[in-house]
Formats: sequence, C-alpha cells, structure tokens
Amino acid sequence: MMPAVVRILAALLAGYITIGGACAQGSAPAVTADVTPHIGQVSKDSVWVPTPERLIRRMLQLADTTRDDVVMDLGSGDGRVPIYAARHFGSRAVGVELEANLVRLSLDKARAQGVAHLTRFIEQDLFEVDLTQASVITLYLSPGAMVKLKPRLLALKPGTRIVSHQFTLEDWEPDETVRVEGRTGMLWLVPSDVRGNWALSMPGDALRIGIEQQHQALRTSGTRAGQTANVIGARLRGTEISFTAFDRNGHSRQFHGRVEGARMSGESFSEGGGALPWSATRE
Ligand SMILES: C[S@@+](CC[C@H](N)C(=O)[O-])C[C@H]1O[C@@H](n2cnc3c(N)ncnc32)[C@H](O)[C@@H]1O
Repeated sequence: MMPAVVRILAALLAGYITIGGACAQGSAPAVTADVTPHIGQVSKDSVWVPTPERLIRRMLQLADTTRDDVVMDLGSGDGRVPIYAARHFGSRAVGVELEANLVRLSLDKARAQGVAHLTRFIEQDLFEVDLTQASVITLYLSPGAMVKLKPRLLALKPGTRIVSHQFTLEDWEPDETVRVEGRTGMLWLVPSDVRGNWALSMPGDALRIGIEQQHQALRTSGTRAGQTANVIGARLRGTEISFTAFDRNGHSRQFHGRVEGARMSGESFSEGGGALPWSATRE
C-alpha cells in the first residue's frame, strides 16, 4: 500500500502524467490509486466487469471500424477495447477511465502488446471528456450512465457510430443488435437532422416532402404541384436516407441519398426505368 502522503501527492499530480508514450490526464482523483485491480471494483457510474473478446470483435465489426477511425471506450477498464481496436483493426483508440489502477494496467498492457503508439488512456470522468474526436464510441456502463450520456451522443456529428454492450439508450432504438455468448451488443448511428420541409427536384419531376423525425424514425408527407403525393417507407441510417415516392402515373421510385446539412442528394431508381439523380434542399 502507498503511504497516505504519497496518495495525496499522487492525487494532486493527477492532472497530467505521461508514461511511455501513452498519456494519462485527468481532473478527478482516483479512488483506487494504490489497489490491485479486481473485477467488481466499484467506480462512480459502474463497477469494472470486462467485455469478452468475442463480443468486442463483433461490436467493432458492427461499427464497421477501420484504421481511419478513432475509437473511444468510455469507462475503459483494463483497456481491452482500445487495445483490441488498435491491434486488430489498426485504429487509433482512446480509453477514458476514472480509476488510476486500471489506467496503469491499460498502459502496461498496451505497451506489452505493442500498441502504445496507437492508444491513449485518459484518467478522467467520462462525463468531462470531449467526445467529438471519436468516430466510434464503445460503452459498457450502467442504465443510469446511458440516460445521462444520451443527449451528448445525439449531439455528435451525424454518422458517428456508438456501440454498447448490454445497456440501451432508452427510446432511441438501436440500428442493429447482435448476440454473442448470450450477451447483447447494439449499434446506433447518430442520425442527421432531417426535420422540416424539403424541395426535391430531379429530371422531369419536382416534389415537396415534409419530414417528422424521432431519432432515426421518420414520418413523411408529400405534395406535387399542390396535390398529395405518396412518399412512404422513409429510413435514416446516420447520414444515409432512403424512401419511396410515386410518380404522376402511380409508378413507384426508390430514392437513396446522403444528407449534408440542409441538402440531400443521391440517385433514384424505378423498375425498368434506370437511375436518375435527385437533390433536395430544406425550405
Ligand atoms: C463495466 S466496466 C467496462 C470496461 C470496459 N469498457 C470493457 O468493456 O471491458 C465499466 C468501467 O467504467 C469505469 N467507470 C465508471 N464510472 C466512470 C466514470 N464516471 N468515468 C470514467 N470511468 C468510469 C469503471 O471503473 C469500469 O472500469
């Protein structure tokens, strides 16, 4: 055990510590600084229980993780998720962990597994870190922590992928769910904001489309030259939108496109009619 005076000094110095190329920084003094890590150890928003490797792999696959991603594990325990992302997906990866003993263990493991240059461990409260640098966020926390995190996750850049082991985001339904060894992994894509009225144009046609939105669930209505036009089956997956609209002759056409702020654009297809480009702007 570390003497009390050393513990106090360690807490004071917790602002910035660099170990072997990886860095640990933070504002909250750890409660387990001199304790050997043990499964079940208690922290602020969750106890430490590790995710099995097979589920980590599946969750990172679900998020389509690549070497271009920055993976951030909020409440990173012994660092196994960032280390796995770096070793097997080539990603840069950040672990945020409040407990000093687990941060130390993560740094040791990252070095031993040859990924210290790709990983970073931050000793800090996960509710105080900037999440905007991450393109993939991984979670295994508690129901209460998920409730608190939800508004911050929804405010992230559209298309950011969020994967959680076990815990849901209340009424924000996952885009995909997997089961591995009796455990659940879920994926959410931060949805673009598509609420409002859109003027859509394409060769030979123009439509006005109204969209109501609750997370990724959409309700649409349409008009063409002041007459009701059927726009149905709208789906939003991050920044990708798709829907079906019917032309003047009652023939259906599938629209697929990408949302970029106040503009959407893509291609549309009708049976036997070939592809036509379309674009829409928010009114
Ligand atoms: C269930 S464990 C998950 C560990 C790791 N993500 C995994 O999947 O193997 C949750 C971790 O979150 C940490 N934790 C709890 N509250 C935290 C907070 N407010 N800020 C940072 N870490 C926290 C705990 O110390 C614990 O290591």
